[in-house]
Amino acid sequence: MRKTKIISIANEKGGVGKTTTTHNLGSALTQLGKRVLVIDLDKQCNLTTLCGGLTGKSICDLIYEECMGRSSTVSEVIRSSDNGLDYIGSSKMLDSINAQIACHADSPYVLKRILSSEEFTKYDYILLDNKPAIDILTQNALNASDGIIIPIEAGLFAFDGIDGLLAKVRSLNATTNPRLKVIGILYNKAEHITEFGRAIDQATKENFGAAMFSTQIPYRKAQTERAISLGTGCVNIRNNTLAEAYLALAGEVIKRS
Ligand SMILES: Nc1ncnc2c1ncn2[C@@H]1O[C@H](COP(=O)(O)OP(=O)(O)OP(=O)(O)O)[C@@H](O)[C@H]1O
Ligand SMILES: [Mg+2]
Repeated sequence: MRKTKIISIANEKGGVGKTTTTHNLGSALTQLGKRVLVIDLDKQCNLTTLCGGLTGKSICDLIYEECMGRSSTVSEVIRSSDNGLDYIGSSKMLDSINAQIACHADSPYVLKRILSSEEFTKYDYILLDNKPAIDILTQNALNASDGIIIPIEAGLFAFDGIDGLLAKVRSLNATTNPRLKVIGILYNKAEHITEFGRAIDQATKENFGAAMFSTQIPYRKAQTERAISLGTGCVNIRNNTLAEAYLALAGEVIKRS
């Protein structure tokens, strides 16, 4: 049985923390001794930037070669971050990749075919950072995945789109990927100072129950930005108050996946 777990980090809503979660969860899993690869599936390239930038080939090259029926040398596309996290970067070219995927005879499974290569089996976890939309590429990611993590941004509009996304998971379960499971909904940028913040927190727990991770990621702008400016995950920085939360999240992900 394949032991590599492939997990999509997804939410159609923008700015909820998909990329921040992918990077910090990946770094935390690495710190817990897991071999982790993160893949940027967004033309904004934010994850690529967090990991150290793009030099050479990107995920676009792997998808393009697969669509052309040619094999790729995966090792040429994988880079290593300073904190031990491996990554495959994205590029602006990703904009035009949906048209290529749509022409493939096995179009729902282009990414799955790529990730089935032997070279990926050395990883315990592959985390896919998705764009804020469910298009053909995101559906490819979900079809390639064993599980999905849905970050939501604490606040009045936290629930927007979640029902639609959960319905999408059920529809994929019935059609192209029966394996896909919701690993958890992650309450990000949690803020418990105001009565309003606490009320939203309570309402979220009531709405999603056991699907919610027990770990919440607190709102910590300075700590998040410090990790970005140092080009590393929060867990790699001494006295970063988010480190404990991301390590706890990684522990839950290991248990649930
Ligand atoms: N726990 C947190 N505390 C404070 N700021 C945070 C936290 N998590 C994320 N942020 C900030 O929120 C912003 C959006 O985060 P991020 O880019 O990870 O969201 P995203 O869902 O990937 O966005 P997009 O939909 O554009 O891809 C960033 O500026 C990030 O630094
Ligand atoms: Mg993002």
